[in-house]
Amino acid sequence: MKTPDPGKDHHLASVIHRLLMLVIVLLLIIGGLIYTLVFGTPHLEAERTERSADAFSPPVSPVVIAPKVWTAPDTMAIKADEEGKQIRYGRDLIANTARYFGPEGSVSHSTNGMNCQNCHLDAGTKPFGNNYSGVSSTYPKFRERSGKTESISKRVNDCFERSLNGKAVDTTSKEMKAILAYMHWLGTGVKKGAKPAGCGIEDIAMLDRPADAEKGKNIFNAKCISCHGTDGQGKKNADGIAYQYPPLWGAHSYNTGAGLYRLTRFAGYVKNNMPWGASKETPQLSNEEAWDVAAYVNSQPRPSGKIDKDWPRLAAKPIDNPFGPYVDPFSEEQHKYGPYAPIKTWVKKQGQEAENSGRRQEEQSEKQSGERTTSGRKQ
Ligand code: HEC
Ligand code: HEC
Repeated sequence: MKTPDPGKDHHLASVIHRLLMLVIVLLLIIGGLIYTLVFGTPHLEAERTERSADAFSPPVSPVVIAPKVWTAPDTMAIKADEEGKQIRYGRDLIANTARYFGPEGSVSHSTNGMNCQNCHLDAGTKPFGNNYSGVSSTYPKFRERSGKTESISKRVNDCFERSLNGKAVDTTSKEMKAILAYMHWLGTGVKKGAKPAGCGIEDIAMLDRPADAEKGKNIFNAKCISCHGTDGQGKKNADGIAYQYPPLWGAHSYNTGAGLYRLTRFAGYVKNNMPWGASKETPQLSNEEAWDVAAYVNSQPRPSGKIDKDWPRLAAKPIDNPFGPYVDPFSEEQHKYGPYAPIKTWVKKQGQEAENSGRRQEEQSEKQSGERTTSGRKQ
């Protein structure tokens, strides 16, 4: 049996003593840290008072809080019931239109083989990618292009006839009903009459010179042909049904009555979406490049649309509509390629000279022209 060793005891006591000291020191350090975290150092305190003083003086430049850009509801939230099935079918018709209505379509052969999604990106959900966020909330509405109040199905058929250079779909068909169900579902939570931020196509800043098709050709060669092809005819998928890269002109492209045939629409679309992968946050083209490539693509041959009944009220014709007659003295060439500022100035001057009642009518038309300000911004 071992006898207790007094020297060992003493050693143990001193170890305990040291440990206690260490704990106290640590506690002091932690306490100090907590104090600084909660009350801050005197220096930081001074800075904070300075800052809050700033907050009460007038700001140098106003802080602009951008409205929250719309995002689509989650497809996972689509129910498994009949209505959900219809919404899913509608979405599929937008994404894979050619499979149903293209030259090899299962429902009919009535379009050029493009998908709605080729232009309404991510099944019409991409911010600034020509999305449908404002469709359910703003239709039916009066549109100057037809001079009539249009339902969603009329607007959808406009794109079938113009952008898909095809035939209108029976408005009582299963397909049209599914497309409408999908549009309404996309508009979930969007207030009646509202156009969410990032809706449709953005109106980008205009050039003070005509858009230049020659310059646009160089941009096309450098940044577009890798996908859309040297001849702009795109490339079909291996199955030959839909396009991997859709055509930009020629027999299978949108016709001259389509929205993209207007330079403001084309430039705004490509600026925020092309080359593939670009977005509003990560554009790959300057404004100038977007306008010039728009001029090049839209100076190539394409099918003509039925446009003789369009814009019954001449004064409501969009500034970039390339087909006369116009109320102003500017040429079709200038209306197509710009510069638009002199036309706008002329129109404004006329408005000022006209009687007040006339001016009110014009403002009214500006508001009602859906095609012209789809993104809710004035050009
Ligand atoms: C070649 C491109 C293209 C294709 C393909 C296309 N569209 Fe469009 N669509 C447009 C453009 C451009 C606009 C007008 C956007 C603007 O003015 O800002 C538009 C507008 C619309 C609108 C009105 C949007 C609004 O907010 O007022 C609807 C609805 C629509 N398209 C549905 C369809 C459907 C459905 C299809 C397929 C059957 C389709 N589109 C195919 C280019 C296209
Ligand atoms: C990396 C491939 C790629 C490049 C490069 C590219 N695109 Fe596209 N583009 C696409 C794809 C893919 C679509 C169809 C998107 C979809 O269906 O989801 C498309 C669609 C389009 C559309 C609408 C549909 C149509 O055919 O009318 C236009 C207009 C367009 N691109 C213009 C351009 C322009 C202009 C450039 C050059 C500045 C360009 N693209 C560069 C892949 C590309």
